[in-house]
Amino acid sequence: MESLQTVVNSWNDFDTLRHVIVGRADLTCIPPSEPATEAKIPSNSDMRGMWGPRPLATIEKANEQLDSLTCLLEGRGIRVDRPTPIQWNQAVVTPDFSTQSMFGCMPPRDVLLTVGKEILSAPMSFRCRYWEYLAYHTLMQQYFDDDPEFRWEQAPRPRLTDRSYKAGYFDDITIEERLERTAMLDFVTTEDEPLFDAADVLRIGKDLFCQHGLTTNRRGMKWLQRHFPNHRIHVVNFPGDPYPIHIDATFVPLRPGLIMNNPNRRLPEDQRKIFAANDWEIVDAARPAHNSPPPLCYSSVWLSMNVLILDHKTVVVEASENYQMDQFYELGFEVLPLAFRDAYPFGGGLHCATADVLRVGDCEDYFPNQVPGTQIS
Ligand code: GLY
Repeated sequence: MESLQTVVNSWNDFDTLRHVIVGRADLTCIPPSEPATEAKIPSNSDMRGMWGPRPLATIEKANEQLDSLTCLLEGRGIRVDRPTPIQWNQAVVTPDFSTQSMFGCMPPRDVLLTVGKEILSAPMSFRCRYWEYLAYHTLMQQYFDDDPEFRWEQAPRPRLTDRSYKAGYFDDITIEERLERTAMLDFVTTEDEPLFDAADVLRIGKDLFCQHGLTTNRRGMKWLQRHFPNHRIHVVNFPGDPYPIHIDATFVPLRPGLIMNNPNRRLPEDQRKIFAANDWEIVDAARPAHNSPPPLCYSSVWLSMNVLILDHKTVVVEASENYQMDQFYELGFEVLPLAFRDAYPFGGGLHCATADVLRVGDCEDYFPNQVPGTQIS
């Protein structure tokens, strides 16, 4: 397709999408155990004890579905760029830690945070993801050359020493104990240094809602507040989630005034006040169509709600998620179904698989009525 002029600008997840990055599954590895991944992988997961390159046949299937997403978007006139995978099956060695392999570049959403005219590489807590931003370097360089207003940014590189993690955090504990810990805001990452994943940051114009969880700490949110002084950074958490990583299978804005919440991971009452005070409706997401995720998958069945909004009336939904599609029809959306479950094991669903470059629209103030106590201090 004819390429659109590069303009970096995106303030939310629902305005009209014009330009996006879609990940690639090539060379993806299951990383070896490390403090942050230990906390994420359920004790009964088929991934426990496994590491190394993912089977080629699964990579090819995932890439077919990522290519289908690319075709669907390009068919609607949306420009799609792709990262440049590197050989992820290499050790990461720094003065502070070493680990035997890297991860991949299927989920650009985890590392790239787009806020307006800026794309920021996040200081992620997984050691295996330390160099992941390199897969996007060529694209960032191109955007920098093409768009004189593009701000190419990087949060402070974390050291990821053992001080960044609580030792033995999740050894031999039940789901109930996990839930108790996460409800008490007791996470594997410490406050030793700023850490966040971009996918923990929900962008709604002037307000950024950050999930405090396994991959994002309060120091990371404080860094975001100083870095974005014209924004308001709110701390949110979802006590029903035993593995609170990434907000986009938990709390998903659909259009101005409407947000979808995972019914197993409800936003606590006190944190809902800011939405009520500004006439935002929070609806429960439909239940997933599946009882279990596909094999070798980090994520839960709630990738059903990890959808890609193309504009205020159009959404891409995984093709087997009948209940979620029905809910979108009832909410007045045009639904574009797309088979995507083969991509899930590589790092998530349709939203995870993408990172915004351009959505038409400005930085709106959707929450003029602020509620004391919700912002990071
Ligand atoms: N954190 C994404 C999920 O629900 O699996």
